[in-house]
Amino acid sequence: MDYQREKLKKIFNQTQVLTVVGGNWGDEGKGKVIDLVMSEFDVIVRFSGGANAGHTVFTPDGKKLVSHLIPCGLAARKICVLGRGEFFNLELFLKELEDSRAVLQEDLAPVYVDFGSPLWTPYHALFESYIEGRRQGKIGTTSKGIGPLEGLYRLRLSPVVGMLFEPKILRRNLGILYDVLKPCLETMNEAVPTPDEIVSSLVARAEEIKSKVIDTGYFLQEQLQAGKKLMMEGAQATGLDAYWGTYPFVSSGNSAAGGAAVGTGLPPSVFDTAILVAKTLPTRVGNGPQPSEMWERLAAMEFPKAHPELFVKGKERDEFLSSMLAKINQGKADNVEMSQYFQVLGDERGATTGRGRSVGFLDIPWLQYAVRINRPKWLALTRFDMLSGIKTVPVVMQYKFQGEILPPGKLPPAWQLAEVETIKENWEGFEENIGGISEESKLPKIARDFISRLEKLVGVPILLVGTGPGRGDMVIRQV
Ligand code: GDP
Ligand code: IMO
Ligand code: MG
Repeated sequence: MDYQREKLKKIFNQTQVLTVVGGNWGDEGKGKVIDLVMSEFDVIVRFSGGANAGHTVFTPDGKKLVSHLIPCGLAARKICVLGRGEFFNLELFLKELEDSRAVLQEDLAPVYVDFGSPLWTPYHALFESYIEGRRQGKIGTTSKGIGPLEGLYRLRLSPVVGMLFEPKILRRNLGILYDVLKPCLETMNEAVPTPDEIVSSLVARAEEIKSKVIDTGYFLQEQLQAGKKLMMEGAQATGLDAYWGTYPFVSSGNSAAGGAAVGTGLPPSVFDTAILVAKTLPTRVGNGPQPSEMWERLAAMEFPKAHPELFVKGKERDEFLSSMLAKINQGKADNVEMSQYFQVLGDERGATTGRGRSVGFLDIPWLQYAVRINRPKWLALTRFDMLSGIKTVPVVMQYKFQGEILPPGKLPPAWQLAEVETIKENWEGFEENIGGISEESKLPKIARDFISRLEKLVGVPILLVGTGPGRGDMVIRQV
């Protein structure tokens, strides 16, 4: 690990602000990349999303910590900042602090929250369930109130965190929000709390965060001036960005790299270095197009619930995986079976909702698009170990849309993305199990060639290659 540290020190020597963002539809392993790299940074900052995120990290002694609202930085005792672009839920925040304390068994590092962040109230949750209950073509949200938090804020109806300490202003704001939403909420068969009830329950716990609420943009500017290094922890991903994702099947924040400036109040010129985290086999939960996926979304999402026995370590899982791998290598497995194999192998279940993640083939045109949107300096390719033992790997090389091959970086409008035909090519796979390898030289030659080929097609150096869920399971490449 010390040897890895030395490498990281050299790589990030000149980087004062690093942005880490997701390249697919979330759950790329951003948490793991941040965990590896954050030793080189002083302050870890979230700039978008909210409790819909689920970032998994492991402590040095192997304890699992899933962070939703608070940056992963707690695991390494780094200062953590929830920037203004992140939606805030008081109750979940306090619970996460408590859970983190229980997992880490230590006093936590400082955590700061912005006074201007949109503040969750029960109205946001009720309004989300009202919308999802009525719309055709549901988004399949995480039910954390994310759409209403962003939407009602932009409509200038949402309270913000600082109002927790100004009960009169909070009450006035909630009154307006209530009046606007009342006609919708009254049609629901659910108890709707009054503004007074909400104010008193929020204010009752506000003191617990009072010392943490600051102007985070100002604080971050001070940190930069003091020569501190900042890491921006992206949540969600390019495909879920409200503008550059597959609208309307997106989340509601600015999750691509551009969102870091919007969500922190730091000027765009400070953000010059980004890492795009991409999954070797991209996944998606919820609804919306994912051109390379192997199986029908709903079935894939239900699969872990229908076969829980396969998601528990043991004989049944082992037998399933080995028989399925044999079938894949004999060329007898169809796409549904491949999807099932990878879902079980990678335990592809959402960290926030527990829903199954639907798996897709490695998708070069999508990555070329994500690279165009985020202009990363490097790529982190996670879950490369998932390809261990697969002799022939189908890879999506191009998209064909309405009879034409699309040039790299170009996509049709999101509502037509489902129409693209994926043009695949078989790449030579590697038979060795690369799980846990952390040195480039130990990767089989075929695996190294695979990475180099991908790197050329995507046009960005691949700095990190994930070889397993464990803390050290990552190759830091010479780029
Ligand atoms: P995030 O939302 O982008 O931070 O990702 P999640 O934490 O929701 O999901 C990523 C999952 O993949 C976690 O369970 C990680 O432990 C796991 N993971 C990350 N990188 C790798 C890798 O390289 N190989 C394998 N097998 N698992 C990985
Ligand atoms: P991390 O940060 C995967 C998806 C939801 C749904 C859509 C909109 O862990 O990568 P929302 O509740 O945000 O309004 O739901 O976005 N989604 C995610 N999928 N990982 C995430 O976060 C996600 N955050 C939102 O499943 O399809
Ligand atoms: Mg996640």
